[in-house]
Amino acid sequence: MDDAQLEERVHECGQRLAAGLAGADTGGLRHPLAAGERRMMRSLIGDPRLRAALFRFVDVRPACHSRTELVRHLSEFLEEAGAGSGNARRLARLTGRRELTLPTAGAAGLGVASMAHRFIAGEDAQAAAPELSSLWEQGRCVTLDLLGEATLTESEGERYAQRCTQTLRALAQMSAGWAPNQLLEHDGLGPLPRANLSVKVSALTPHLRANAPERALSAARDRLLELLRLARELDAHLHVDMESLDTRESITELFLELLALDEFADGPPAGIVLQGYLTDSEEQLERLLGWLEQHPRGAPFTIRLVKGAYWDHEVVLAAQHGWRAPVFTDRRSCDRHYEHLTRRLLDARAGGMALRPAIASHNLRSLAHAIAYSDALGLAPDALELQVLRGLGDDTAAAIATYGRRVRVYCPVGDLVAGMAYLVRRLLENTSNDSFLAAQTTGADINLLLERP
Ligand code: 2OP
Repeated sequence: MDDAQLEERVHECGQRLAAGLAGADTGGLRHPLAAGERRMMRSLIGDPRLRAALFRFVDVRPACHSRTELVRHLSEFLEEAGAGSGNARRLARLTGRRELTLPTAGAAGLGVASMAHRFIAGEDAQAAAPELSSLWEQGRCVTLDLLGEATLTESEGERYAQRCTQTLRALAQMSAGWAPNQLLEHDGLGPLPRANLSVKVSALTPHLRANAPERALSAARDRLLELLRLARELDAHLHVDMESLDTRESITELFLELLALDEFADGPPAGIVLQGYLTDSEEQLERLLGWLEQHPRGAPFTIRLVKGAYWDHEVVLAAQHGWRAPVFTDRRSCDRHYEHLTRRLLDARAGGMALRPAIASHNLRSLAHAIAYSDALGLAPDALELQVLRGLGDDTAAAIATYGRRVRVYCPVGDLVAGMAYLVRRLLENTSNDSFLAAQTTGADINLLLERP
């Protein structure tokens, strides 16, 4: 298939997904306030000072131990940032003293609580259980993300590990009762576990930084090792998320070192994340593929390709230090690179590697490109997995399922304090000028949105 034919197929797939999106039945998961909420958020975040304040707030977030502290800090940051502007006046009303003494009201006033409800599936796996089984019934599988990151103390790291353990067990138990679904449970490489957990290694240890001393990483190693053992025992999939670039090397080294142990030769199925917005992500992908070739395991390895959620963080940090930003700063180059990585992943799978490519995006063009290219290689439909985030990609998930492709919904669980940094990332993404979803909701022409980047 030549380039022009591939483009034609991408457009056909994209149109089909767009039609599915328009008729999406999210089975009660659609949030009726979403559009109004988005408008409010956009007007607030359109103000760069408030954006910066939110962003700085994420740095102090790990020091907040209660909802009260969280709301107080957030309000202070926003007030300080916004003195004088129209948005600030609106915020000042929302964060007035009276509401600060009523944390719940304060959070609700900021739209934080309603936003949390949109993005977080529940405080824990039990609370999320009805939604997870409903997603499964609608032909969508899940990965549960345990909220929490940037741990400050060993005991917090230990608590996060315990929550992971409980969540894995709860997920394995509840999913055992779900009805069989061939597409969600099998691909050409074997069975796909119903229980799938995504963890943030920075929540397992307070010492996860570039060049972290060997000794400091040992607690994280022990905790991750126990999680891998439990996943193997329960036949579950364990996925390691990627976070800011300064932790990439430690996380990758640690995870690959553990997976190479003899005890994990046959399981569990596991995976890692590749952030396409990093300009060196192709080298990182080649490194992962090289590792896979040298360490054949009996259980497939998933690479989840994402664009990346720490864009603001990377750009600000680089500017502070006078470094060149490690991320693409131009949307088209970034999207083009994402497609390049998608093709490399699918080529590797077509070449016979025990690799499961998972393309995680809300950009219809990127999804359509992955489907069209996978088909062009002659791969079976189940060889490609598509992934979206709960609350942002609900309609997209419905459209993918209608298309007959496997879609996994990333469902965060945890409380507002643990989830705050996650929420701020969604907010920053959702209100950025480059957001595909934002363009789509303002009614941009689908043909333009499907154009080759
Ligand atoms: C995040 O935590 C989705 O893992 C991504 O922002």
